[in-house]
Amino acid sequence: MVAAIAGVQSSALGEAIVRRINELAAISESPDYLTRIFLTREHRAAADLILTWMREAGMRAHLDAIGNVCARYEGERPDLPCLMLGSHYDTVRDAGKWDGPLGLITAISCVADLRRRGKRLPFAVEVVGFADEEGVRYSSTLLGSRAVAGTFDRRVLDARDKDGISMREALTRFGLNPDRIGTAARTRGELLAYVELHIEQGPVLEAEGLPVGVVSAIAGATRLTARLTGMAGHAGTVPMALRRDALTGAAECIGMVEELCRADEDGLVGTVGCIDAEPGAANVIPGQASFTIDMRAPTDVHRQRAVTAMMRRIEAIAARRELSLQLDVTHENRTAPCAPWLTAQIAEAVAGEGFRVFELPSGAGHDGMAMIDVADIGMVVVRCRGGISHNPSEHVDTADADAGARVLLRLIENFRPRGG
Ligand code: GLV
Ligand code: MN
Ligand code: MN
Repeated sequence: MVAAIAGVQSSALGEAIVRRINELAAISESPDYLTRIFLTREHRAAADLILTWMREAGMRAHLDAIGNVCARYEGERPDLPCLMLGSHYDTVRDAGKWDGPLGLITAISCVADLRRRGKRLPFAVEVVGFADEEGVRYSSTLLGSRAVAGTFDRRVLDARDKDGISMREALTRFGLNPDRIGTAARTRGELLAYVELHIEQGPVLEAEGLPVGVVSAIAGATRLTARLTGMAGHAGTVPMALRRDALTGAAECIGMVEELCRADEDGLVGTVGCIDAEPGAANVIPGQASFTIDMRAPTDVHRQRAVTAMMRRIEAIAARRELSLQLDVTHENRTAPCAPWLTAQIAEAVAGEGFRVFELPSGAGHDGMAMIDVADIGMVVVRCRGGISHNPSEHVDTADADAGARVLLRLIENFRPRGG
């Protein structure tokens, strides 16, 4: 079937990718929405399916010590260094089906295409599906790619999920040995580069009328948790002036985060995505309130200044309301620039497929932010409808999935190592 969308024709590659996107999306903790969390039954089922696809594509494949799926397609001779392709297969809660799986499934499809044509390259191609990029279960993101980059922080093994299960325990229950996470790490000499294809997750390509874009850098992010403690009390008897209400304190902080970011004219964004109040009854003044904050900006200096200003303001709100405050940075990722030599090759592949070359920064976080510690990184992004992501209505047209796959395949076939 050939469908013309925005001047691009869909082909078999795009259709096969979309079929697999749908197959993987059926693996969820509920049939009513898509949620696939690290070290769960769904993680296991998705890993098994992806490993099957990897083997069908002619790769040697295994589950590594953190639960990543890893596969290798040998080059013209064994043991050559590799071009590594990857993305994640965990999801946020009530997710769209493209965020993560599009890059992983496209990479497998590209290798399958090479294999079908009997094509071997002067380097190996490896594909990795990262087990946890989103950080939903343990708040700490990029767990899979940090393990591969050799920067996994063993302290997070003691982190606990909302049910009190530590990561160490969850890994053991999953059948993995937390003491062996180090074996997932790769060395710089083994990797020629890391390239990730991902949905754009924003509206820029749609506005430009383009199916694909070349990423210049991945914006850094800081995440914090704040816990305000006041005094629980009776909703009917305590006059307003005598209350130490933790939840109204949190509400003031949240409004302040929004104001601070709105007043910034250089791309600062801030999100409070989770809030919890205790004891949680209609007739009890909340004694404790906890919330998360996610702050991002185009440069590290800008973000760090804004985070410091925001922390000072939260401290001032807590002090004025006589609330005690625990404010912790749970995650700090610096901005990750894509390597110009690799970006140039991605741009060549985009032009080679007949598309205008368009560079853009990625506001969303990606595994490349961790992989940059072990390899030069590059990224291709694919247009999504309405710029919508982290939402079940996330959508990529088949023709755009196909365009992304053709760009990635062309990049792989023409890839030259740095300086080559
Ligand atoms: C990952 O999707 C992030 O940008 O938070
Ligand atoms: Mn995501
Ligand atoms: Mn993602």
